[in-house]
Amino acid sequence: MKLAVAGKGGAGKTTFSATASRLIARAGHPVLAIDADTNPNLHAALGISTEAVQRVPFPPTTLVSRSFDGPALNEPLDVVLDRHTVDAADGVRLLRMGMPEHADEGCLCSAHAVVSALLSDLDHKVDTVTMIDMEASPEHLSRGTAREAHTLLLVAEPYFRSLEAAKLQAKLAKETAIARVVVLANKCRTDADFDGIAEFCANHDLDLIGRIPWGDEVLDADAASTPLIDFAPESAVVTAIEEVCSVLVPPPPLVGQVR
Ligand SMILES: Nc1ncnc2c1ncn2[C@@H]1O[C@H](COP(=O)(O)OP(=O)(O)O)[C@@H](O)[C@H]1O
Ligand SMILES: [Mg+2]
Repeated sequence: MKLAVAGKGGAGKTTFSATASRLIARAGHPVLAIDADTNPNLHAALGISTEAVQRVPFPPTTLVSRSFDGPALNEPLDVVLDRHTVDAADGVRLLRMGMPEHADEGCLCSAHAVVSALLSDLDHKVDTVTMIDMEASPEHLSRGTAREAHTLLLVAEPYFRSLEAAKLQAKLAKETAIARVVVLANKCRTDADFDGIAEFCANHDLDLIGRIPWGDEVLDADAASTPLIDFAPESAVVTAIEEVCSVLVPPPPLVGQVR
C-alpha cells in the first residue's frame, strides 16, 4: 500500500508521516518512508541523525530510464533500496528523494522521476506500506510523482488557506489514477476548529477521515530534536494518529493466515 501525505506547508505532513510510519511498523508491517520533499527533514522526525543520513547517497538520476509507460528503474528494486535507505527505529527504512546541492542548478525533474520509478516498482512488494512525505507545492501532482500512490492524505489546519490548498490538491488528484483522496484535520484546538474543517469538507465533497488535536508536546518534541513518538508516546496526538493509521492501513495478516 502506498500512501502519499500532502497539504500546505506547516500543516503537519512530516510529523504525521514520521509518527504514522513508526506506528504502522510496530503493528507488524514492513514500512518504507520516502522523503519526497526537496527540503528534506523526515529523517529528523524519525529520529535519524543528519550524520547518518548523509552517509547514504541520494538515488542518482542515472537509475531511471524513460519507458513508454513512464520512468522505470534500471536496477532491481531491492538493490536500490539496500543502497539508498537508512534504518530508523521500529524497522522503518527511509529513502530520501534528493535536494538541490547548488544555487542555479535547474529543476529537480529527474529526482521526481526517480521517486515515480521507485513507486511503480514498489507495487510488487504488496506487504510493504510506503509512506511518502510530500512537499507543500502541488508540483508532485502536476509532475505525476504522486500518481503511483493508492491513497492521498491531505493534512489540513483549521484556517482557510490551508483548506483551500487541500481542495486544490484534491482536485488535481482526482485527475490522476490515485484511488482514494482523504483529508486529515490537524492542530484542532477546539471543537469549533474541527467543525469548520468538517463543514468545508462537506461543502467541497472531501472525505474527512480523522481529527488530530493541537499538542504543545509536538513543538516540545521538535525543540528537543526527539521524535514525537519517543518524546510523548502516550499523548493525545500520538493516540489520534494511531486511530487514523488503523483506518488507513488494515492490520497485517497473522502468520500462517491464508490471504
Ligand atoms: N498536532 C499538532 N499540534 C501542535 N503542533 C503541531 C502539530 N502537528 C504539527 N505541529 C507543528 O507544526 C509545525 C509544522 O509541522 P510539520 O510536520 O513539519 O509540517 P509540514 O511537514 O506539513 O511542513 C512543526 O513545528 C510541528 O511541530
Ligand atoms: Mg514537511
